[in-house]
Amino acid sequence: NHYVAIIAGGIGSRFWPKSRVGYPKQFLDILNTGKTLIQQTFERFERFVPKENIFVVTSNEYVEIVKEQLPQMPEENIVAEPSRKNTAPCIAYISFKVSNKDPDATLIIAPADHLILDTEGFEKTCQKAIDFVDKNDSLVTLGIKPTYPNTGYGYIQYETESSVEDQIFKVRTFTEKPNLELAKTFLASGDFLWNAGIFIWKAEVIIKRFEMHEPELHDIFASERYKLNTPEEKQAIERMYPQCSSVSIDYAIMEKADNVYVIPSSFGWSDLGTWTSAYDNLEKDYLGNAIAGDKIMVIDSTQCMISAAHNKLLVLQGLNDFIIVDTEDVLLICKKDKEQEIKEYVAEVKRNI
Ligand code: GDD
Ligand code: MG
Repeated sequence: NHYVAIIAGGIGSRFWPKSRVGYPKQFLDILNTGKTLIQQTFERFERFVPKENIFVVTSNEYVEIVKEQLPQMPEENIVAEPSRKNTAPCIAYISFKVSNKDPDATLIIAPADHLILDTEGFEKTCQKAIDFVDKNDSLVTLGIKPTYPNTGYGYIQYETESSVEDQIFKVRTFTEKPNLELAKTFLASGDFLWNAGIFIWKAEVIIKRFEMHEPELHDIFASERYKLNTPEEKQAIERMYPQCSSVSIDYAIMEKADNVYVIPSSFGWSDLGTWTSAYDNLEKDYLGNAIAGDKIMVIDSTQCMISAAHNKLLVLQGLNDFIIVDTEDVLLICKKDKEQEIKEYVAEVKRNI
């Protein structure tokens, strides 16, 4: 049986001015599609995984938001963490929980805040990965062809010449968030992919890897694993979490394991880290404008990223290479190549308003 854990406990990067005041981007409709990112993520999996097998793992403080946004989810599938400990403890927790239920379970780990345009392509890739991990004790990750030396991603070096199965390749090295120089070298070498942060494995196989590479974390959960899925779970988890060190799955396991495989993927993926990354992955009109929202009129403008949600017509003329984001109370107009400065404006805004 296969299961999905949507991980939704991060505070997320600020997609200003859409995301603000501690409401992280997984709970926002960043691109004005009518659905928030976590709702889109859930629906993507509902197509091929029964909803009793889909879990959301998030921090206590977001549980109510998840219930509101996903009312169709069985309540016991919303898994609450007492504190924020990054992704390794969260994945250990859900893996033990699922493996208690079904020792043979395959598990897809999926961030709640990513954009995926080609739903069918994504489903096919997941199926391929599920079939593979069913037969092989391996960890599969999905890889994206890199386009620039982004230092916020994991880099996967893989055996480009020899696939072990159609489009499945052995991973040689995994490097989480390299420095700029290293990222440039990786990009130039041509045999690296970005880690999409979507993982597929058997619950028991990742548990074994926790035991090998992160034994303390493993033991914290293993010692009381029989309490998971019982009325004693909450208390047990509240004892365990303060003992866990805060570390991401990428550093804890992916960099160390020798049974990692990658599927090079192209399903229109973006982790929506910046407006430019959203722009790059959205469909454009014939002049290269990406338009998110349905009351936007664009005249003689090219290569713009435009987002506007509310009931107000937005008319633009003669703008090239701009980011334009209109929200209830903030209108941002910014040159695309100056986007990295947005965080400075936000700091300035906070000081003055
Ligand atoms: N439940 C829970 N608890 N979820 C968490 C926690 C936590 O403590 N911390 C983060 N998450 C969730 C986030 O909400 C997000 O959906 C996902 O886990 C990934 O966390 P990020 O903090 O966004 O990681 P990242 O973007 O720095 O790096 C990861 O993603 C990149 C691709 O977007 C890594 O896997 C990189 O290797 C990868 O390239
Ligand atoms: Mg991220």
